Amino acid sequence: KKPSGAPDSALAKPVSKVGVIGAGLMASQFALLFLRRLEVPVVITDVSQERVDKGLAYIAQELEKLVEKGRLSTDDRNRYLGNLSGSLDYAAFANCDWVIEAVFEELEIKREVFARIEQVVRPDCILATNTSSLSVDAIGANLEHPERLVGFHFFNPVAVMPLVEVVRAAKTSEEAVATAMKVAKNLKKTAVITSDSAGFVVNRLLGFLLGEAMRAVDEGANFEKVAKAIAPLGLPMNPFDLLELVGLKVGAHVLDSMHAFNQERFYASANLHKLAEYGKLLERDGRGKIKGY
Ligand code: CAA
Repeated sequence: KKPSGAPDSALAKPVSKVGVIGAGLMASQFALLFLRRLEVPVVITDVSQERVDKGLAYIAQELEKLVEKGRLSTDDRNRYLGNLSGSLDYAAFANCDWVIEAVFEELEIKREVFARIEQVVRPDCILATNTSSLSVDAIGANLEHPERLVGFHFFNPVAVMPLVEVVRAAKTSEEAVATAMKVAKNLKKTAVITSDSAGFVVNRLLGFLLGEAMRAVDEGANFEKVAKAIAPLGLPMNPFDLLELVGLKVGAHVLDSMHAFNQERFYASANLHKLAEYGKLLERDGRGKIKGY
């Protein structure tokens, strides 16, 4: 049985270079956080130069916004940009101590990415996955060193959401968990250690909230009325706005993945799939909010 508490922090490995696989919105958001909070070199990669460039541009633009707001000095901005690089060549990850991926939420893709990265990093490099709905053990099943893989799940928007789920899978070593806890602390995030179960803690609950809200709509309720009915619960966002923040396609895919994780109680409704194709939810006012909410 795996220990349930936090591991001895002395087991944490130092992290002096970070690798980020994926340059999409989630990966770019946390690459930015690594730059600012760990103050170490960060290298990012993706499947095309165009995607890498887009991620680099996003990070530069977010740093610029902070400078404009007077929250960041130009010296710090320049230092962070000096620490940032992008490469299509995995060899650029050779001396990373911590590599985290946020590529498409598909088991085979994640397995392939880690198989490739394992060929170039040192054996003591910790590997982390930002998966939100796949099994960490399944992702690491073909690794030579599956014990170094740990789940490290951020929430959107990364800069603001205080939580990170650290997933201790059956094979995850205590060194990997301890390092993840230390990284989370240095990122000034609150970390909770979860088991390798479908949706971990947060998506397990959000899966119901978002899934059921959409099913209520499938059954004839309108967005506005559902959103208004639950407003007194005081959630920071109604479930439909949250689905759009996460991305309808991502939301539908996460629910489908949790379903495939032998959790049939989670599933994306037919309407959610349809609307994900369409790209947005309906019944919005000019400011993009649910009408009247
Ligand atoms: N990026 C960076 N910063 C952002 C941001 C973004 N996308 N959105 C908002 N912020 C910042 C703002 O700049 C502002 O910062 P300051 O106070 O320092 O100026 C702060 O957040 C508050 O923003 P606002 O005042 O504009 O808006 P708000 O008070 O309505 O808060 C919110 C916005 C933080 C997003 C809030 O609505 C919220 O917490 N929503 C719930 C989000 C949530 O549940 N996320 C989890 C999604 S599930 C997931 O991500 C996991 C998965 O696996 C799919």
